[in-house]
Amino acid sequence: MDRQSLEYTREHYNKHSNQFATTKEALAARSSGPSAPLKKLHNTIKRLLIKRFAGQADRLLDLACGRGGDIWKWIDAGIRQVKGIDLSPHEVDEAGTRFAEARAKRPELELDYSFVATPELGLSEWKEPAPYDAVTCMFAAHYFFVSEAALKQFLHNVSINLVQGGYFFGTVPDGRRVNDCVLAGQGMRFHSPMLTVEARWKGAPECFGSAYICAIGDTVTGAEKGTDGSLEYLVYSSVFVTVAAQFGLEPVLDYDTPELGRLLDPADRAKPLKHFAPRFPQSDPSLERASRLFATFVFQKRRPYPAGAAEPPQKRARADEGEQAPREDATAQPTARRRIVKPAAPRAEEGAPAPKLTEEERLDATRMPSIEQHLRSSRR
Ligand SMILES: C[S@@+](CC[C@H](N)C(=O)[O-])C[C@H]1O[C@@H](n2cnc3c(N)ncnc32)[C@H](O)[C@@H]1O
Repeated sequence: MDRQSLEYTREHYNKHSNQFATTKEALAARSSGPSAPLKKLHNTIKRLLIKRFAGQADRLLDLACGRGGDIWKWIDAGIRQVKGIDLSPHEVDEAGTRFAEARAKRPELELDYSFVATPELGLSEWKEPAPYDAVTCMFAAHYFFVSEAALKQFLHNVSINLVQGGYFFGTVPDGRRVNDCVLAGQGMRFHSPMLTVEARWKGAPECFGSAYICAIGDTVTGAEKGTDGSLEYLVYSSVFVTVAAQFGLEPVLDYDTPELGRLLDPADRAKPLKHFAPRFPQSDPSLERASRLFATFVFQKRRPYPAGAAEPPQKRARADEGEQAPREDATAQPTARRRIVKPAAPRAEEGAPAPKLTEEERLDATRMPSIEQHLRSSRR
């Protein structure tokens, strides 16, 4: 994973953490700022996803957990044990503070939630002492599309920490819609009251590493705090699905949850990415446009991973494995100890197809206004 982009992202989220003294203040701000309708919808979608796909879970692993904005969703879903992992030490600190507040409110519950800061999720193997019933990644999988190696490392880490049959799910901006947005702007930059998106890729977008800056006003991606916004990478559905399959993860197409279905685009019923369907009539239209960039994804671990993994994967590791202090940065929080297994290279299935864009995505990706005009005129 590219260290420079990690640094940028860590800095961005460090600056956005700890904006409020208490969760109460944070919730009050969430319900009053200009992006309040977007935050409400996005939180409802996360809540319903968690209820549907982790409602039976005793243990959940949340990758890129941020400042613990989902703590009450986990509590309300009856999840007893959660490990949250994030790049930003400041966000992780705040998650710890929020959890302490939540525990004080519900002392009768035996909750075991812990949070750890590390840049390793897309860099090397991260193996927890025992697999989890569910793994989540909310509004963050796009950071791992920086390179094929980072995405594979990340999905390897997802899969080795997920029980067979467990769900890996979350929310992510759809690269096609981000690209559409950029093309609708001027000079590869779309600017509007609530949403700014600026392409940082050259030429046509690729499967990996097509960077852009996204800033949604009054949210953690915003540019108000000294960065340009969040540095992200295009996520193409076909790439996500193809690479995930190499790690035993198959898309779930039918969520079987009418409550959640009402908040998602019905046109995506049979698709692996299901776009949010916002309606914010009182807000600037650019807030809806920002929300429509996002989609849910759900994968189920339907095939054993690593291949033939009836045998626990750590058995294949070198003799130097074992319970050790994590080798992440010095800012890491105290946490349950984990097993470090090297070498870290993910073991995607042999002979797996190389990720490539579908024809539709490719056309979309290479589409420039002039080409679009040409196609329109040639159809007349
Ligand atoms: C938009 S926030 C989402 C936070 C949280 N999941 C939520 O839904 O509220 C994105 C988070 O991804 C984290 N992140 C970005 N790149 C990461 C990486 N390589 N490893 C771990 N966390 C990362 C950021 O630090 C940030 O907290």
